[in-house]
Amino acid sequence: MPASHSAPPQHLDRPLEVGPDDWQGREFYFMMTALVIPRPIGWISTISASGVRNVAPYSYFNMMGNDPPYVAFASTGIKDSLNNLREVPQFVANIVTMHVLEKMNFTSTDFPRNEDEFSWAGLTPVPSAKVKPPRVGEAKAHLECELKQIITDHNTNIVLGRIVHVHVDPTVWKDGRIDPRLLDPVCRLSGSGYAQLGELINVQRPFWKDVQGTQGQAVMPKAVRR
Ligand SMILES: Cc1cc2nc3c(=O)[nH]c(=O)nc-3n(C[C@H](O)[C@H](O)[C@H](O)COP(=O)(O)O)c2cc1C
Repeated sequence: MPASHSAPPQHLDRPLEVGPDDWQGREFYFMMTALVIPRPIGWISTISASGVRNVAPYSYFNMMGNDPPYVAFASTGIKDSLNNLREVPQFVANIVTMHVLEKMNFTSTDFPRNEDEFSWAGLTPVPSAKVKPPRVGEAKAHLECELKQIITDHNTNIVLGRIVHVHVDPTVWKDGRIDPRLLDPVCRLSGSGYAQLGELINVQRPFWKDVQGTQGQAVMPKAVRR
């Protein structure tokens, strides 16, 4: 199917149909990063063979299964984090919460590889439990990972890391679990846009035994505001 529009239109008067190669420059990328939102941010700490510490944000980031537990993040091109991983195949995905938003953003600077980004950003490197790269002391939770694989397709490098240890700060824990309000995660939108958690809602998970009504109609669990 040909693209419905040769460039992003100012007003969309009919449904948009477009593929990754249909638009010039970075327009498709801009649309995609505005479409798949909100994204969590993995604040990835790594270390070089010579011991230089690095920390940088990646919002192509998520949990990727739980048995065993994995995280994935993607680097567009070869960046310092990727070079470090090739030397020391371990990383920490520090969870980004609102109180460290500006420091996280600062660490996205294109620092030369031999610069210690922890000290530039005024962050405390704390020894990790099971991996060599330090965790960010100011972060409220940390996922320590062993590199499993890097999948490369042109400029996309998808890093798969197996979680080997998790650290959670007591201040985000309530009633036997992590409290989303106390955690206060940063939600990445596109460009320089971010958001905070809004209203919290529960919807019960449906099971086949419960979803059939007396007339054979579908019974859908209702969304309940917390
Ligand atoms: C919130 C945020 C999210 C980002 N996500 C990514 C990403 O998913 N992939 C990527 O390649 N760069 C991403 N960047 C840009 C990198 O952080 C930036 O290129 C950084 O310099 C890379 O650091 P490094 O060379 O130390 O690995 C992001 C920047 C910000 C501010």
